[in-house]
Amino acid sequence: MGNDYLDLPVDSASRDRLAADHLRLGLLDTSDPQAYAAWFRAESRGFHDGTPTDELIEQRRGYVADRRRTGVWDDTIAEPAEPVATTEAWPADLTVPGRRSVPSWAISAVTVAPTHRRRGIARALLEAELRTARACDLPIATLTVSESTIYGRFGFAPAALARDLTIDTRRATWTGPQPGGRIHFVSGRQLLEDGLALVERVRLATPGQIAYDGILWERQLGLMIGDEDAKKQRFVRYDDASGRLQGFASYKLTENPDNFSQHRLELLHLVTATDDAYAALWRFVLEMDLVSEVHAHLRPVDEPLRWMVSDFRAVRIAELDHLWIRILDVPAALEARTYATPGRLVLGVADPFGACEGSWALEVDSSGIATVTPTDEPADITMTAEELAAIYLGGVSPLMLAAAGRVSGRTAELEAMFRSPVAPFLSIWY
Ligand SMILES: CC(C)(COP(=O)(O)OP(=O)(O)OC[C@H]1O[C@@H](n2cnc3c(N)ncnc32)[C@H](O)[C@@H]1OP(=O)(O)O)[C@@H](O)C(=O)NCCC(=O)NCCS
Repeated sequence: MGNDYLDLPVDSASRDRLAADHLRLGLLDTSDPQAYAAWFRAESRGFHDGTPTDELIEQRRGYVADRRRTGVWDDTIAEPAEPVATTEAWPADLTVPGRRSVPSWAISAVTVAPTHRRRGIARALLEAELRTARACDLPIATLTVSESTIYGRFGFAPAALARDLTIDTRRATWTGPQPGGRIHFVSGRQLLEDGLALVERVRLATPGQIAYDGILWERQLGLMIGDEDAKKQRFVRYDDASGRLQGFASYKLTENPDNFSQHRLELLHLVTATDDAYAALWRFVLEMDLVSEVHAHLRPVDEPLRWMVSDFRAVRIAELDHLWIRILDVPAALEARTYATPGRLVLGVADPFGACEGSWALEVDSSGIATVTPTDEPADITMTAEELAAIYLGGVSPLMLAAAGRVSGRTAELEAMFRSPVAPFLSIWY
């Protein structure tokens, strides 16, 4: 899509609602360095980050071209140039089952100043983002969230879960394949282009991944000014026997002050295009000298690692919600993905926001392609926009949601149709 979304006026309903509370909803003019600095300071404060330096503000401003940034200003406060609330959003391609991609509205930087909390500002901003996405014909909105209690009320649900792994390396002897190919240390900068090309090469294999470049990518490489953690970050790449890059990992080590042979290794990012690259890089990480524990944050729920080490229980797992999505256009979203089995179901969806409300005939042909039309027929399945979002990427089981009392009707057929052979997963926060 083009860049028209950058110039769309702010949502009038939210603007009027906030104006009634003497607050001003507006778009940030990112070409104005002072205005951007004030907005970024407000965002940093909202996430309890330190006050950004001028150097960091300037670096961040360099990334802003494709982001639509919104603020809420209160002209009565002591420093009225600094917004009391922020959001940003941009169109990001989201992978859906069937190795396909759908444009989505990625929302980030949702903050409200502690001085202005709980008076409906976040609601006004979120609803404005959803209406803006609809105005841009984007069928889905996405988020990664600080708290899992906030966004259900806006029709979002976790559609891709993730796992944190804690591995006792003394129990986890490698029993998996021992591929040829080579591992090399590289700098983050060396991965800037090749690494991103690899990320893009594998993106369509996993539902839930979004296209990332610019700040989302360079942050992974530790290239942000003032990133203290980046000083400890190390990078390795795996090249196959023909010398082609097939994977990379980044990690950092923390010393145990009481025992130098018990460092902890934090695996920050691991992207692989082949099973060989996956096995070689995990083995490299688990066999690191002077390390007794590996902690891997944000890993897929279908990670095969436990089947590649000597002791299944050496790998402890904590599961978390990660990618939250919101369906905004039922036919466009449902027709964008493919389905595991053919069939016909009428989905009855309740949605107080209105976007998904109605009965929708979902007809899937023998090649897994769907046609979706509004209908007056009685529903075979009853759910709300939240459950529709949860099952959309094929990772949350409709049968489980039925057992939880959240979906009813012909759920076995729904399960068979929606299931994805690859668990949905998103490898970053944004
Ligand atoms: C989360 C945050 C944006 C909420 O802003 P806010 O303006 O106080 O929220 P609102 O007053 O518009 O509340 C909207 C609704 O969400 C609820 N809500 C707000 N924050 C919530 C929270 N942290 N947990 C649970 N519910 C929350 C409110 O009770 C309200 O419910 P209702 O309208 O259904 O009655 C704000 O507290 C904040 O900036 N937090 C720190 C940064 C952060 O975590 N941002 C989210 C990033 S994903």
